[in-house]
Amino acid sequence: MPEGPNVSQSLSASLYERAMEVLPGGVSRNTVLRKPHPLYADHASGCRVTDVEGVERIDFANNMASLIHGHAHPAIVEAVTEQLGRGTAFTMATEIEIRFAEHLVGRSDGFDKLRFVNSGTEAVMGMLKAARAFTGRHKIAKVEGSYHGLYDYAEISQTADPSNWGAATSPVAVPVAFGTPPAVLADVVVIPFNDPERAIAILDRHRGSLAGVLLDPLPHRVGVIPASLEFVEALAEWTHDDGSLLLFDEVITFRSEYGGAQEWYDVGPDLTAMGKMIGGGFPVGAIAGRADVMDVMNPLAETLLFPHSGTFSANPVTMTAGLVAMEMYDRDAVDRVNRLARRAREGIDQGIRSLCVRHRWRFDVQSAHEGHAANELP
Ligand SMILES: Cc1ncc(COP(=O)(O)O)c(C=O)c1O
Repeated sequence: MPEGPNVSQSLSASLYERAMEVLPGGVSRNTVLRKPHPLYADHASGCRVTDVEGVERIDFANNMASLIHGHAHPAIVEAVTEQLGRGTAFTMATEIEIRFAEHLVGRSDGFDKLRFVNSGTEAVMGMLKAARAFTGRHKIAKVEGSYHGLYDYAEISQTADPSNWGAATSPVAVPVAFGTPPAVLADVVVIPFNDPERAIAILDRHRGSLAGVLLDPLPHRVGVIPASLEFVEALAEWTHDDGSLLLFDEVITFRSEYGGAQEWYDVGPDLTAMGKMIGGGFPVGAIAGRADVMDVMNPLAETLLFPHSGTFSANPVTMTAGLVAMEMYDRDAVDRVNRLARRAREGIDQGIRSLCVRHRWRFDVQSAHEGHAANELP
């Protein structure tokens, strides 16, 4: 963390001085913090972003993996510009939200119905609340170390470390934010990643009390290693037997395949949370899945189990950008992105490998997608 504003006279340094006066730490999201100050964006196009100092960079971050077509894609800019002139948000439903929902539901057999929200955090929160409403149970299980946004329950044990994570057979629910209610800790069951035997043994101790098991199929804070077939199958079978739900967080991984990373497995989740790229560059989230579960949000039901609304949910700007972006992200585009990602990974692996050889360091690499065993260089 920076100690404070740098005294150099760059425009970025002086912007940061002003930011420190009004924003805690000088930023609105910790992820953009850099030493001695954040980079301040000026403009971007395609895969290049230029900062206020005039430095142009190739952008591999794409606003935290949310811009699948890069910056300012002309088709998205044109469609959104047109929509801006017609209104940005109404206390009315719109046709574009139906069209976009039809498109997304058409991408996966596991999606019968869908609701839009405004962020990945909100999608995960809504998904967990839907699972609770459907099952009538309140506990959830999640993978130790995985990131799912800011919802109290979903962030438990995201930053657990050896000093507090307890025994592997019984991981401790470790809060992220100070002040997290003890009741939240009591209602989150932490399981180890890709260890079906231990995970199931832990889940067995909570049989009948879990609403669902939350899983990111390629958790980026757990080493970007895909959930193994055995792990997903074990969780699917366990939740099915238990009457709880399998809940996938595909906020990032939905881009991995046309219908999301869930295509990698024979068994699918009951509900899926999405976000990031499906907004075409605008704030978004979505919850999709089984019709009977999604129906907990149905206000026409005899008993509305999970009242769900949001001032900007399904706003026509996001819907327009998202539909254009996702229509362009067809099967060919998915294949192309995966090919490019493979090339980038191989190049990065090769760069690290050369460095290790030069310095005679040991080199262990586990390829995230091929699941290769560790390699050791001489
Ligand atoms: C896997 C995963 N889930 C949920 C979220 C939360 O999404 P948002 O930042 O849109 O709230 C993120 C954000 O990085 C994420 O990576």
